[in-house]
Amino acid sequence: MIKCFEKATKKTIILAILCISVLLLLGACGENSGGSEDATDETTAATEEQTTTEVAAQVSDTLVVYFSHTGNTKAVAEKLHEFVGGDLIEIEPVNAYPEGYDAALDPAKQEQRENARPEIKGTIEHFDSYETIYLGYPIWWGTTPMIINTFLESYDFSGKTVVPFATSGGTGIAQSIEDIRSEVPDADVRDGLLVRDNDEIEPWLKNLGLIE
Ligand SMILES: Cc1cc2nc3c(=O)[nH]c(=O)nc-3n(C[C@H](O)[C@H](O)[C@H](O)COP(=O)(O)O)c2cc1C
Repeated sequence: MIKCFEKATKKTIILAILCISVLLLLGACGENSGGSEDATDETTAATEEQTTTEVAAQVSDTLVVYFSHTGNTKAVAEKLHEFVGGDLIEIEPVNAYPEGYDAALDPAKQEQRENARPEIKGTIEHFDSYETIYLGYPIWWGTTPMIINTFLESYDFSGKTVVPFATSGGTGIAQSIEDIRSEVPDADVRDGLLVRDNDEIEPWLKNLGLIE
């Protein structure tokens, strides 16, 4: 009877040990799988962080944007962009002006008389991220082409620095700067440059403290 009891106790102990071992093993597996989940979470977080940083690095705070009908301002914009970097974007009208200097004179005058806002192709993404905006245009009838007014009214310029530059057949830039300032009163509109020679660009930017 005692032997039988002893046998039964031994069996129970062995069973209990087996059960505990199985339970411990399961526990360990559980911990491991939880650990690998944590590791996966960490990897995902690291990847997301990296992606956000990469996106942040791609979005520049500098924009060089210009309108050019016959190419003079475009050439200046490209030169200026070499100094300041950032994004370079052309303002293109939905309805193109007739080709050539003379052909554009009357339509441009008409737009000015009507205080028109010629439509611009497309929109600029991430405009909010730009802090300094270099704005280039030809002088048309003494000031900015009306499409520049459309541009200035299309985005929120408050708190931004606007740096105008222009080309012309001789007229100065002063009137256009005044007009830009009244379009975007909440922006810091710097003294612009009428570019007669590309060699003027670098000293002007240095003088404004915009490049070193
Ligand atoms: C419609 C029109 C109006 C212009 N008005 C003036 C002007 O008032 N004063 C001036 O000096 N040049 C004037 N110009 C000459 C342009 O400002 C000059 O050719 C400029 O460099 C053209 O730049 P773009 O090649 O980038 O279009 C005018 C040209 C056009 C087509």
